[in-house]
Amino acid sequence: MNTLRCDRTHAWAGLRDHYETHGRRFDLREAFAGDPGRFDAFGIEAPGLFADLSKNRVDAATMKRLLDLASECRLAQRRDAMLAGAAINTTEDRAVLHTALRAPRGLGPYSDDVHNVLEAMLAYVESVRDTRASGIRHIVNIGIGGSDLGPQMAVPALEAFAHPELVFHFVSNVDGHDISAVLRHLPPAETLFVVASKTFTTQETMANAQAARAWFLAKGGTDVAKHFVATTTNVAAAAGFGIDKTFGFWDWVGGRYSLWSAIGLPIALAIGADNFRALLAGAHDMDRHFATAPLAKNLPVLLGLIDVWYRNFHGFTSRSVAPYHQGLERLPAYLQQLEMESNGKCVDLDGEPLPFATSPVVWGEPGTNGQHAYFQMLHQGTDVIPVEFLLVKHPTHELADQHAKLLANGLAQAQALMLGKHTSEAMAERAPTAAKSLAPEILARHRTFPGNRPSTTLLLDRLTPYSLGALVAMYEHRVFTSGALWGINSFDQWGVELGKALCNDLLPRLASGNTEGLDASTAGLMRRLLA
Ligand code: F6P
Repeated sequence: MNTLRCDRTHAWAGLRDHYETHGRRFDLREAFAGDPGRFDAFGIEAPGLFADLSKNRVDAATMKRLLDLASECRLAQRRDAMLAGAAINTTEDRAVLHTALRAPRGLGPYSDDVHNVLEAMLAYVESVRDTRASGIRHIVNIGIGGSDLGPQMAVPALEAFAHPELVFHFVSNVDGHDISAVLRHLPPAETLFVVASKTFTTQETMANAQAARAWFLAKGGTDVAKHFVATTTNVAAAAGFGIDKTFGFWDWVGGRYSLWSAIGLPIALAIGADNFRALLAGAHDMDRHFATAPLAKNLPVLLGLIDVWYRNFHGFTSRSVAPYHQGLERLPAYLQQLEMESNGKCVDLDGEPLPFATSPVVWGEPGTNGQHAYFQMLHQGTDVIPVEFLLVKHPTHELADQHAKLLANGLAQAQALMLGKHTSEAMAERAPTAAKSLAPEILARHRTFPGNRPSTTLLLDRLTPYSLGALVAMYEHRVFTSGALWGINSFDQWGVELGKALCNDLLPRLASGNTEGLDASTAGLMRRLLA
């Protein structure tokens, strides 16, 4: 079998020529000067958000070739296969159906199973949120990776919708510092632990869950059944741990795609049943957009295509995400798992080594903080790093003046990256803090900005459960798009297994001191740790 993948298409060869003759020299400033309609042509309306793609190094001709690539790679058919529940995760023989988790009852595969768990979970949520009756004030989510990052990202993002008396804590790291710092301040009688693990075998989560239970009992906690709940596909293992109350999900929900399932329990506890349903509705509307919008107006498809253009033709190695909303502080971390665990692969579906690059590094910090850290490199470093700005029109706080400053900063950064500053402009300026002793021409070179640095701006009217759901689903489908073109399995994660296995080998050695058969570096480090 020959995987249908991007480099085996006519469009790919055409794109290579197009890059050489056109793409390599593409200049955003010239593109805007030559096309007054560019903003409108590259503005995409999608559920919950508007995307300005106009500051990307593409024009109509580039997009046409990328869309041809999508059709040669049968992107629409692959999307439909995923949505219909085909076992597209071939290395684990599993369907990939996170979209079924947010479809209304009666629509999509496994609808009854999904909605039965959802209803039970949301009824439970309301009982806990009745804090006078439940006595619960603190929720501690114990999970890692996909069993942590979704809730950890969404709960602060939706803080304006959250229950005023519930305080949320997230424990993920096997490092005892993590859970110790959280437990120190908690009253056991007012604490609910959510043990979140798809497999219920993950070392970090099991260690933290055991530590939590030991702490709870040592502090005089008596009702483990009331204070511990599990979200997992492995109900038997949760019961074995001593947890009665479990909300289940299924093997066709990937960990990094699971915030819509029972793994979203902390989100639902924070924002309540109706808001959790709104989060699902936003994601479902984005699913409909992905499933039905023409590819040329399909936001996740267009972004996925531009990602391929940047990674495989321009050779950009990373993408920076800059949410201009403090509540989205953990979005970059969430997207790191979503994109890099999905598309960080080096063989195609047939196991053939890939002759081209796959996942970029995804990284970032909220604006404006990043501006005072690494934006220097974005503006004047030797690498070109596309940036994704996320702006929210209406804040949920009252500080209108600060919000205007925030928006102005976000807009200005995207503008500066694109426009840059020519040396002649720098020469013409007075820079009060610049060295007087340096020749003006030399100084001007230091104060030159190359510009032509691409960015995408995603604009949300408000950060609500609905728009957050749509935004996250958009990212999921974008990752699907680039992964499908690359011909890889975006839904397994074998790359995390080797380290786990070696850790299991090293752990008893740390107790026994046995370094036999180890490489010299690991053995040397171990001896120093044990000395
Ligand atoms: O990092 C590997 C991984 O399997 C992720 O894909 C997953 O989200 C995480 O570990 C946690 O796994 P689990 O939910 O089974 O504890």
